[in-house]
This record gives sequence, C-alpha cells and structure tokens, in this order.
Amino acid sequence: MHSFNLQYDHVKDVNEHRMYRLRLKATSTPVEAAEWNHKFDLFLRASFERTQSYFNPLDHCPDVLVFESPYQSIITAALMSRYIPEEDNLYVCFLSVLPEYRQYGLAKNLLNAIILQAYDNDIKQVTLNVNVENIKAIKLYTKCGFRCTKYIRDYYASNPQPHLDGYYMTLMIKYIRSPPLICKKEKAVLIPSDIEVEYAEQCAKDK
Ligand SMILES: CC(C)(COP(=O)(O)OP(=O)(O)OC[C@H]1O[C@@H](n2cnc3c(N)ncnc32)[C@H](O)[C@@H]1OP(=O)(O)O)[C@@H](O)C(=O)NCCC(=O)NCCS
Repeated sequence: MHSFNLQYDHVKDVNEHRMYRLRLKATSTPVEAAEWNHKFDLFLRASFERTQSYFNPLDHCPDVLVFESPYQSIITAALMSRYIPEEDNLYVCFLSVLPEYRQYGLAKNLLNAIILQAYDNDIKQVTLNVNVENIKAIKLYTKCGFRCTKYIRDYYASNPQPHLDGYYMTLMIKYIRSPPLICKKEKAVLIPSDIEVEYAEQCAKDK
C-alpha cells in the first residue's frame, strides 16, 4: 500500500496494528490523486458493506488516519476528516473498520488520535454525523464524549441507509479532563450537567 505520492507518518502501534497519518503529497498529479480517491472509495465500500460509490472521498476529507494490517499491507480501518476553519471544527467525515478487524479497539484508537490532534492544536470542537440506528457507532461516540447536538431528519435521504435520520454529534474540547484516556474511560470528558440538559433539548426530534 505504501506509495511515493502519499506521505505516511507513523502515529503509534496498537498491539501489532500500525497507525499512520496519510496525506496526498502536494506534488501528486491529478491521475495519482484520482487513483487514491478510487482506492479509498473501495475501502469505504468494503468497510461500510455498501455497493454505492463514495465520490472522491480524499478531495472532501483530506486528513486521513489509518490502521494497517500487521500481516499484509492493507488498510484495515480509517478515519477521514477535514478542518472547517469558520467553525474551528475538526469534522469526521468517515470512520470505518473492515468487518474482520472489528472489535479490536481500532475505531476507539483512531478517534482517540483525532481528538488528541484537536486538543493539541487548540481546536474548539470535533463533530460528526451518525445514522440514528447505528447503535454500535453511537455507543462508541458517546464513550468518547460526543453528544447529539442536533437531530437531522432525512440526513441520509440521498444515501440509501437502513434509516434516514441522523444525529449531529459534538465533542467540545474544553470538556476534556484526561486526554490520554479519551475513548478508553468515559470520565476522560466531563460535560457539565446543565450543558447535558441543553444538548438533550437541542437534539429533540420534534424541535
Ligand atoms: C462502528 C465501527 C466503526 C466500530 O469499530 P470497531 O473497531 O469494531 O470498534 P472498537 O473495537 O474500537 O470498539 C469501540 C466501542 O464501540 C462500541 N462497539 C463496537 N462494536 C460493537 C458491537 N458489536 N456491539 C456493541 N458495541 C460495539 C463499544 O462501545 C466499544 O467499546 P468497548 O469495546 O469498550 O465496549 C465498526 O463497527 C464499523 O466500521 N461499522 C461500519 C461503518 C460504520 O457504521 N461507521 C460509523 C459511521 S458514523
């Protein structure tokens, strides 16, 4: 998988799984960029278990964290994000793990790494969208300190999903108490109780 037109920076190892930060090099040609967009489209289709294409995912979400298989050089998990300057927001566009590599803690570690990146760079918040029926993912995000701050009807209308509505979830970096424990212990993030109430109101379905 390693290639001269992608910059690979080793982040950490989790057991024998290696985490890298990837970026398309500025010197990459449009053909090379198209090839990598195609590779990530294939990865997303396999990990989301969907047949529909993801259109040029790297163009929309250029910051990528991946895990590589310890046994063969393939991407097993990825978190793709983009920074939205006007909101001081690191938005997670995609997080997915190949079915055979799930429940090894890969998603948890990718989220921990992106949240630490926001923390270390004084970014105000990390946000994402999730299908309201994706219980596994909601459980994971809640454990990491994300809360629903908006209920979005028909969020997935253009994108066949088992359910069409979505939650917009937010983690305000100022509520982090113990950065290394993020996504490992819920108490790593402490959200004041009045803010929890405010979030619940903001997330109400019939608002
Ligand atoms: C959701 C997903 C990313 C989780 O990846 P993963 O690497 O298996 O998750 P982890 O092993 O890091 O588990 C982290 C937490 O997620 C939750 N979780 C993961 N798998 C779960 C399952 N089968 N049942 C219930 N909770 C689960 C748990 O809270 C778990 O924490 P715990 O191990 O302390 O109980 C993965 O199932 C996936 O890729 N699904 C398809 C794509 C998708 O839905 N992405 C999210 C879109 S918003």
